[in-house]
Amino acid sequence: MQQPVVRVVCAIGQSGQIGLNGGLPWEGNRSPEFLADVARFFDITRGHVLLAGPKTIASIPEFARSDRELVVVRSSMNPEDTLMRFAGRVVFIGGGPPVWDAYARFVSHWDVTRLPYDGPADRWFNPGWLTEGGEIAGNRRDR
Ligand SMILES: NC(=O)c1ccc[n+]([C@@H]2O[C@H](COP(=O)([O-])OP(=O)(O)OC[C@H]3O[C@@H](n4cnc5c(N)ncnc54)[C@H](OP(=O)(O)O)[C@@H]3O)[C@@H](O)[C@H]2O)c1
Repeated sequence: MQQPVVRVVCAIGQSGQIGLNGGLPWEGNRSPEFLADVARFFDITRGHVLLAGPKTIASIPEFARSDRELVVVRSSMNPEDTLMRFAGRVVFIGGGPPVWDAYARFVSHWDVTRLPYDGPADRWFNPGWLTEGGEIAGNRRDR
């Protein structure tokens, strides 16, 4: 059976900030790089499947709801079975962190924008997601 292509597009602050009080930590910042990042996210994911937790899906603005397939995932759902529903499609895993914990091992492409924000957050990027599912124990002294 054909597999979906599984990708992530996300934005982080300088220290890995991802979320604050249910929104983006830099919410309301109208500087060009922040506006361009949001526009880019909606451009890249247009026409594809966006699979994310309930809070993240609820935060998708009305204008972006009709031209992509939004799928709420829950912790009761099996990630393999969920992804196989979208065989042949491009599936973006939209977060939040518990969803990336569960789906990181299937991701073939991480697209991470590091924005010029270095304030508070209550959700953080985990660099371990990038190598999730790899089975060879790394020897950091060799790097
Ligand atoms: N910077 C970025 O690019 C970016 C992207 C996305 C989100 N965010 C930020 O992140 C925050 C929202 O994320 P969030 O984590 O709080 O809420 P969320 O989006 O609702 O995602 C977490 C929820 O997903 C559900 N879930 C689905 N599959 C799961 C699995 N296999 N294992 C565990 N849980 C699973 C769980 O809810 P149940 O147990 O109820 O099913 C979990 O509580 C906001 O601040 C948002 O702005 C930032």
